[in-house]
Amino acid sequence: MQLHIFHGTETGTAEILSQDIQAELGATHTCIVKSLDEVGPSDLSTENLNVIVCSTYGSGDLPYSATAFYEGLQRDKPDLSGVEFAIFGLGDSTFHDTFAQGSEKLMGALIDCGAKMQGERATFDSSSSGLPEDICFPWLSAVLGIKPNQAAPALSNSAASKLRGFLS
Ligand SMILES: Cc1cc2nc3c(=O)[nH]c(=O)nc-3n(C[C@H](O)[C@H](O)[C@H](O)COP(=O)(O)O)c2cc1C
Repeated sequence: MQLHIFHGTETGTAEILSQDIQAELGATHTCIVKSLDEVGPSDLSTENLNVIVCSTYGSGDLPYSATAFYEGLQRDKPDLSGVEFAIFGLGDSTFHDTFAQGSEKLMGALIDCGAKMQGERATFDSSSSGLPEDICFPWLSAVLGIKPNQAAPALSNSAASKLRGFLS
């Protein structure tokens, strides 16, 4: 199974996390990683899951690299009824009213165009003590339906342990 991973970032966290997903799941999934500023809505896969990792900037806005993609969705309203996606948001809870709203806006625009979301949107708070992958890897494994004993060989020991805790 392929994963098409797209990141929207301003200072690189979402890009690094996307590459970390590729490294973590690469043994079981062929992962293609691209920036949202390299693609348009027609580049979303209709045969494989699209995984979107996106931060928030300004006041609840999309990061610069995701802006044209988002505006294209809003302007052109492409038919994405054959597209399935999962979305992970990065934000900072010190921005109380706009926490992770970039990914929330992108999720809404994709759904408005008919794309089907797999799982729930998950978020990482950069004011928390953990790392984005502590939340992202277990979330994505659950979205993909990987059971802990299946995921373990492809995951690092620490990630496999976290996943078992998340799913139990
Ligand atoms: C100028 C600025 C504005 C930001 N605005 C928000 C915001 O409105 N809501 C939010 O949740 N996070 C906000 N953040 C936090 C970023 O989304 C967060 O640090 C994220 O991890 C950055 O990811 P990136 O490096 O992939 O862009 C802001 C950060 C900066 C520097």
